[in-house]
Amino acid sequence: MCGIIAYAGTKGAKDMLIDGLEALEYRGYDSSGFYIAKEGSVKSVGRVANLREKAVKAKQGSTGIAHTRWATHGVPSEVNAHPHMGSQKRAYVVHNGIVENYQELKEGLKKSGVIFKSETDTEVIPQLIESYIEKGFDFHQAFLKTLGDIRGTYGLAVMDAFDNEKIYVARMGSPLIIGIADHGRFVASDNSPLARHAHSVVYLNDGDVAIITGNEHEIFSQKGERVLRGEEKMSADVARAEKGEYKHFMEKEIMEGARVVENAIRGRIEIDDGTVKLGGLESVADRLREIDRIIIVGCGTAYYAGLVGEYIIEEYAGVSVEVEIASEFRYRKPVLTPRTALLAVSQSGETADTLEAIREAKRKGILTLGIVNVVGSSIARETDAGIYNHAGPEIGVASTKAFISQVTVLALFAVFLGRQRSMSLVTGRRIGQELMLLPQKIESILSKRDELKKIALAYKDVRDMLVIGRKYNMPIAYEGALKVKEVSYIHAEGYGAGEMKHGPLAMIDEHFPTVAIAPKDSVYEKNISNIQEIRARKGKIFTIATEGDSVIGEVSNDVFYIPHTIEALTPILSVVPLQLFAYYIADAKGLDVDKPKNLAKSVTVE
Ligand code: G6P
Repeated sequence: MCGIIAYAGTKGAKDMLIDGLEALEYRGYDSSGFYIAKEGSVKSVGRVANLREKAVKAKQGSTGIAHTRWATHGVPSEVNAHPHMGSQKRAYVVHNGIVENYQELKEGLKKSGVIFKSETDTEVIPQLIESYIEKGFDFHQAFLKTLGDIRGTYGLAVMDAFDNEKIYVARMGSPLIIGIADHGRFVASDNSPLARHAHSVVYLNDGDVAIITGNEHEIFSQKGERVLRGEEKMSADVARAEKGEYKHFMEKEIMEGARVVENAIRGRIEIDDGTVKLGGLESVADRLREIDRIIIVGCGTAYYAGLVGEYIIEEYAGVSVEVEIASEFRYRKPVLTPRTALLAVSQSGETADTLEAIREAKRKGILTLGIVNVVGSSIARETDAGIYNHAGPEIGVASTKAFISQVTVLALFAVFLGRQRSMSLVTGRRIGQELMLLPQKIESILSKRDELKKIALAYKDVRDMLVIGRKYNMPIAYEGALKVKEVSYIHAEGYGAGEMKHGPLAMIDEHFPTVAIAPKDSVYEKNISNIQEIRARKGKIFTIATEGDSVIGEVSNDVFYIPHTIEALTPILSVVPLQLFAYYIADAKGLDVDKPKNLAKSVTVE
């Protein structure tokens, strides 16, 4: 959360920074601001568009730093917006992360007479830098001393008001990438703002400090020793996402569902051998043969994809799987044996809790794997091996296409592991064939989206709803409810259908509807019984069912039919109508679908 960008070069800095912030806006949109050497700073509350408007008359300049904020410490306001500066107006700082010991540092500085303006943790950084300058250190040394004092996470870009060329940068726990363009150099939280400009990138590691000008960059350790980090070609995948004909990115990304599956399976299914080829796992294939337990970690939607993965891997590969919310895994004492592997699922590859779970697993010496969408992201680089989603950039804060891709890749992984073990050729082929048929089935769902729009309008004014499902579709109930909550602000609870009678049934009446996921699968009859129990309490039901089911219409108020596929792959189809349902409700309510309040796409704080 929070996005930072810095630029030094010959194209106007103001445009480079504001355009960059727009690309990073999905990381936070409570406020934004920039500082440009010789020109000063402009800040604004809310969207980057407000900043752009406010800065219309500001000069371009050539070197500057900028920030878009997701509030952690202090309300969204202009005073709390970055860049923050010290009382002497010398050090200007943009920061992504949290200074955990800021209270203590702030108290110390206050005692020596420093007056703080904001409520943020970040402000201690420029104040500390200036306090060291006052003690006789030069700016660079003062910056290093400050890094030595602060505890927590940071991606930092800092400027000295007395130096119009240098940008000081440091990374600890929050991603930072240097982008090299023909017209200058960038530093950014991720490569989305670099897509149009940079030909190559340099990924900074935790503990790296760098000094950047338009023509060069030098990287050091915090002790001041030179560090070499190779340049990598800018990935072609990083094409900047555009909304095109769609009203929102969320709609566009749902509509990409079929393509996303195609991209995830392309070149990976070897149908004759009933197996899959996963290049990213080749280096650890032998170790994977020995694995008897997998712990999947993730957050939000990625966690729910992991839950589907648990069912698929256990059924088809016979390997025991546990799925854990990344922020919990870190704080427990999980029992890990040498035959356990940790698999992190993350769209962004930057989620702080997931990354920390990987680090913890690495400290314990177990194999770490990743299913990641963003190429070159921290999780992709820190895991021992992994599989890329190739889903393309996802901009809508509520994850949609990434989920479809994650479940698809987990199915591929299950075949990979299964065929290393006792999965038959016939089963491997069957899954492969069904995976290849999914894109056209998703297209057929998407082509009926007007039906969902109509249904969504009938539910848009409710205060609460339940989303229920069983077995493979229980995680889809969770995910469907999450989508509704995130974008429409309706209280929606995802529940295992079998659990209804252990509590939630008490809430059901004519005002409390339920969305039931009841495809024709091994738990179909049980689902019907649960639906009947809700009907008996006057609960309204919207069911997602399999085409050709002639019974379900009699027990539901509304039905949406999805094509048939094998049970393990139904989540990839059943989630699509739920994504559209949530989208249409939110859009009908006139909400800011792509940027729900209080949320951010990439959660880089713990
Ligand atoms: C945030 C996003 C969610 C996402 C979660 C995990 O909460 O709003 O859409 O599922 O982070 O993100 P990751 O990038 O690790 O998949």
